[in-house]
Amino acid sequence: MRRGFCYHRLSMALAGKTVALAVTGSVAAYKAVEVARLLVLAGAKVLPMMTTSGARFVGPVTLAGVCGAPVATDMWDPAYPGERHVDLATRADVLAIVPATADLLARLAHGRADDLVTATALCARGPVIVAPAMHPRMWDHPATRESVAILARHGRVTFVGPVDGPVASGDSGMGRLADPDAIAAAIAAAVAAPARDLEGRHVVVTAGPTYERVDPVRFLGNRSSGKMGFAIAARAAARGARVTLVAGPVSLATPPGVAARIDVESATELSAALDEALGASLAGADVLVMAAAVADFRPSHASPVKIKKAQGEDAPTLSLARNPDILAALGARRGEGKTAPLLVGFALETGDDAEVLAYARKKLAEKRVDMIVANAAHVSLGHDTNRLAVVEAGPGSKAAPPFTAGPKEALADKILDRVAARLATA
Ligand code: CTP
Repeated sequence: MRRGFCYHRLSMALAGKTVALAVTGSVAAYKAVEVARLLVLAGAKVLPMMTTSGARFVGPVTLAGVCGAPVATDMWDPAYPGERHVDLATRADVLAIVPATADLLARLAHGRADDLVTATALCARGPVIVAPAMHPRMWDHPATRESVAILARHGRVTFVGPVDGPVASGDSGMGRLADPDAIAAAIAAAVAAPARDLEGRHVVVTAGPTYERVDPVRFLGNRSSGKMGFAIAARAAARGARVTLVAGPVSLATPPGVAARIDVESATELSAALDEALGASLAGADVLVMAAAVADFRPSHASPVKIKKAQGEDAPTLSLARNPDILAALGARRGEGKTAPLLVGFALETGDDAEVLAYARKKLAEKRVDMIVANAAHVSLGHDTNRLAVVEAGPGSKAAPPFTAGPKEALADKILDRVAARLATA
């Protein structure tokens, strides 16, 4: 067995799954055959396809032989009834593009669907794994950097590699295809059944902004979309938790598996919903994740009628009252040395990584909570992807935690990994 590689784990995830494996035109295409072999050995059904240039680098006969299935190359095959890209995208549990050229990345980034591989990728709604391979100068080119940034923003693909090392030309640098083992492991991770490590736990998640009423048609609010909180609710439910989602004004559908959703508008309503969900002793939940961007201030008096502007009058002054800090109040109520419910807050900040982490640590201490998820406003607000770090109370908390970027659902799992670990040791 190769060092660090576990066939058992691979087959646990892949047995009975269908993988659409797309090969595009890079010298590294020969390694896609090894990836196919690993997938087949792990019990997956592999549906191979190739771009025209992919088929120049490695023989379709080889790939078909390893996969035990014909290689699809053509959108316009008269022998094939129906729409091949739709069929492939629908049948596959995961699409893997190995290797992915610079050209392929550019076409994916711009939603092109001019061959079978890109059309299938555009049609896929399951995970899409992309393993780039190209000369380091191509990987480093601003056009390719832009393609990768666009794809990261879309949040629809997961990159594996490239890695630093020798490439076909004899040069060395970032652009080498990731190891077939690592690619197979990423494909397996994408289809693995989620751990049910939150089974039996009640997880309360708040999400979205609060609107603080000025008059019947105006409010003070913020730009939170609710996507991060909804992703956490979705993943917690997938991991077996009973989830109560307290949502501010957002236009998002309730994720599958969420047991209860309470829609609120203001900070006061959000606080009341939490009182209900957590109960007087706070024993009603095992975990509270405060992803909501709660407004710190509200108008002192909400006008019952629409405020009119009087002719010639100066701009009116809005007098504000402080909203209670709901999370800090819960931290205080839970009291010293207590661990239940586990309290997770968010810090949405501006500044560089060090500043964001410093604010997060301050909030961790001041609110007396167990974890603060630190993220920067410019990469988070409204996006499907985010970049975040988790600061935690307790031993070993001094070192700066790493920032991780990715789709909000994947990052929700990272946060919940920490939550599950703390619950297991509480
Ligand atoms: N929070 C809360 N009640 C409030 C404000 C925020 O419970 N009135 C929670 C948020 O849900 C989030 C965390 O506290 O989990 C954010 O901390 P906070 O210090 O309030 O963030 P900001 O409002 O951004 O504070 P500041 O303006 O001081 O940075």
